Amino acid sequence: METGGRLRLAWNEINRVLGGGIVPGSLVLLGGEPGVGKSTLLLQLCQQVAATGAAVLYCSGEESAMQIKLRGERLSGSPEKILIFTETDVEQVVEAIRRTAPALAVVDSIQTLEDAELAGSAGSIAQVRECTARLMQVAKSTGIPILLVGHVTKEGAIAGPRVLEHAVDVVLYLEGDRQQELRVLRAQKNRFGSTEEIGILAMGGEGFEEVPDPAGLLSGLGREAAGGSALTVTLEGTRPLLVELQVLALPTSFGIPRRTATGVDLNRLHMLLAVLEKRLQTPFGQSDVYVNVAGGLRLAEPAGDLALALGLLGSARNTELPAGLVAIGEVGLGGEIRPVRGLDRRLAEAARRGVGLVLVPPGPARAPEGLRVRSVASLTRAVEMVFGEGPLGAPAAGHRVG
Ligand code: TYD
Ligand code: MG
Repeated sequence: METGGRLRLAWNEINRVLGGGIVPGSLVLLGGEPGVGKSTLLLQLCQQVAATGAAVLYCSGEESAMQIKLRGERLSGSPEKILIFTETDVEQVVEAIRRTAPALAVVDSIQTLEDAELAGSAGSIAQVRECTARLMQVAKSTGIPILLVGHVTKEGAIAGPRVLEHAVDVVLYLEGDRQQELRVLRAQKNRFGSTEEIGILAMGGEGFEEVPDPAGLLSGLGREAAGGSALTVTLEGTRPLLVELQVLALPTSFGIPRRTATGVDLNRLHMLLAVLEKRLQTPFGQSDVYVNVAGGLRLAEPAGDLALALGLLGSARNTELPAGLVAIGEVGLGGEIRPVRGLDRRLAEAARRGVGLVLVPPGPARAPEGLRVRSVASLTRAVEMVFGEGPLGAPAAGHRVG
């Protein structure tokens, strides 16, 4: 399973985020909110490595050996022999790693570890710092890679200190809504690879599954189109993903309009509302606006602006966007459509998904065979094309594409 020195895991969704696998002797922090699935994911990774016949050590200060064993039995795949060590004393954990010399060690979590010689209880800044340093030493001196869990508070800091992020080689975050099945693994820091790539996983009854092709979960293509839903192709690292933006705009019932954005930046939403108001004379001052990215994904770039703007207009006007319409482009303050990086790659994905028409920013674009591509220079022009009218025209008929 070792290639180029790295320990490759069974799931490419994880390998890609790591930069091609786990580097020997590296200390990898896995952060995420409580309950997002950190322990489940690491246990599965351990089982996969154990399935190759390698020794794997899972140290936990969070759960009893019985709890871990029971969870392991629930997970997909046959339960593999993993060495389980329940301990909170960092010296004991380090000793166990040295003694068992596994191909992979997991420590769950940094917040439960403590160094008996240090004042302060587990989870304090001094303890977290010292215990992380001890783990780093043992990883570097033995060449054993260690995956370390760190809980993250709602505010986003890995509980206790951010210093933790500087003290490890790689920082991964497991993100996602606990109520939804999709989880995204992102690298926040990676001494051995890029931090652009994401891994997509779905949580089910038997733990996680990797989702190499999440289009069905993200785009709702083939489902009945909902009013105010708009498609775009986002680029995560080198990976284009067709995603659905769901938009609901409705008259406010409490004086102050609400704006709620899940998966898109709230400031970006405010900006687009201002542009729509100014350039398209569509007021949202008396509207509540809710935006959600299907599947629980988070858009980290402005290429979804045009789709979001069209979705907002569609919802405000109670008009559905034409089925299979995809919009790609950043919207500027003047209502101009600005270029995005990797357009060809995004168009290839749209073509692969069998969408109908794609609106793109002005400039060179290679339209893949079978895909209709139209460039639009301004939001006004896009609205004319999509709703078949000028900005000040009569209520739209919808479903007409110019
Ligand atoms: P867990 O791995 O304990 O989260 P963390 O270590 O990040 O705190 O995940 C717990 C959640 O995952 C819990 O809400 C139940 C859910 N879950 C499933 O949906 N399916 C499963 O097969 C397992 C093991 C957990
Ligand atoms: Mg846990």
